[in-house]
Amino acid sequence: MPLPEEVAAWVLAETVRRRASLRDVAQEYFSRNPGLEYMKPLVRVLTLGVARNYMLLDKALVNGGYGPPSHSTSWMLARVLAYEAVSGRLKPGRARRLAPKAGVDAEYLLGLRGARPSEIVRGLGGVERWSVLFSTPRWIIEELLEAGVPDVPGLLAALNRDPVRWIRVRPGVDVGRLAEELRGEGVVIEPDEDLPDVAVIRSGAGRATRTRAYREGLYVLQDKASSLVTWVARPGGRVAHDPTAGAAVKASHAAWLGARYVVAGDLKPGRLGEAVGLLRRLRLRHMVDLVVGDARAPYIRGAEVVVVDPPCSDIGRLQYEPEVKLWLTRGDAKYFRRLQLRMLVRQLENAPRGATVVYSVCTLTYSETIWVVRNALRSVQEAELASQEPFIGERPRKLPQAQRMLPHMHRTQGFFIARLVKL
Ligand SMILES: C[S@@+](CC[C@H](N)C(=O)[O-])C[C@H]1O[C@@H](n2cnc3c(N)ncnc32)[C@H](O)[C@@H]1O
Repeated sequence: MPLPEEVAAWVLAETVRRRASLRDVAQEYFSRNPGLEYMKPLVRVLTLGVARNYMLLDKALVNGGYGPPSHSTSWMLARVLAYEAVSGRLKPGRARRLAPKAGVDAEYLLGLRGARPSEIVRGLGGVERWSVLFSTPRWIIEELLEAGVPDVPGLLAALNRDPVRWIRVRPGVDVGRLAEELRGEGVVIEPDEDLPDVAVIRSGAGRATRTRAYREGLYVLQDKASSLVTWVARPGGRVAHDPTAGAAVKASHAAWLGARYVVAGDLKPGRLGEAVGLLRRLRLRHMVDLVVGDARAPYIRGAEVVVVDPPCSDIGRLQYEPEVKLWLTRGDAKYFRRLQLRMLVRQLENAPRGATVVYSVCTLTYSETIWVVRNALRSVQEAELASQEPFIGERPRKLPQAQRMLPHMHRTQGFFIARLVKL
């Protein structure tokens, strides 16, 4: 029978090979091996820990003459053991049994017990040091610096922590009363000071999808920064369009904020299947038309509010899915920025005069934020950047009309939001 470290190593290697999510790959593994279900929590801790710290663990191993690092199952096992050692959890028996399979000396691993990150990166300086210390590829750090994100080390440290969880509450629901009811079911929430329909989950986030109020559609799990996007779009009384709607989280918010009606599109029919589920739970199915369509080839005319929320490198969501760091390349960011620019330009061209087009991404790279907006404005002369209300984020020096929500400053996902108007 495999040990949890071996399962974790397999899940990690398979996740990278398939560019899938750790959660999905682990889920599949345990549904095929129900007898090992008891390992799940430990495998989760190990896989998350390795994904968040993989470059630091590689450095600890390379310092001992091992390597070069790879994403093979045996190197993943070496990382898992090094993670257990550095976090002070590696037992000698476990180390001696598994170290040979990882091709590493057990005594070397045991010697890493309790090693401080600052010791492991000794001798490194500048961006290289941050890169290894926070296990973030160098190109991502260079993109963040180019975007002028304040306190990059603070951001990188925050991206390696667990996220703060948020909910968005249905209009008309008394948040105080909801909080009382949820407390009885083990979920503690507190209203947000900035957005009237948002609350932070103080504890019990794991139970938040199993409450009566959730089943009855009184709230949605949604990060505060993501909710801010629809507030900035101000869809009240207008026809709103979300051409990259995914599961319709923002589209449902547009309906709750009083849009006359909403047209939500996505290239992938499967995503719209998820949207149907959400809209039914929220009893909003009648308010939102779903369309399989390509955001690069606009198919509706006359929408007064458009939210372009395209696929991105997801760096603002690393707290949830740190595994993305293991395969994301600068080439991916360049691919996304081309796709994003095309979508934004085509939606701006198609929008009627006076329309609002909000561009949002849950990433913070220069390429996918400031570069996209500047180039879109260059392509579409009849569009201009506009101010935003509410403005609760950080103001990028290179594009002061935009706002960014930053995990280390706002306790949210990393998000970039720009509001444009068609002249
Ligand atoms: C960041 S997600 C959108 C999340 C969504 N706005 C929400 O709040 O739930 C981006 C979505 O764009 C979709 N997508 C990718 N390429 C597309 C295209 N060419 N046209 C339309 N949708 C596309 C993806 O399937 C994905 O669901």
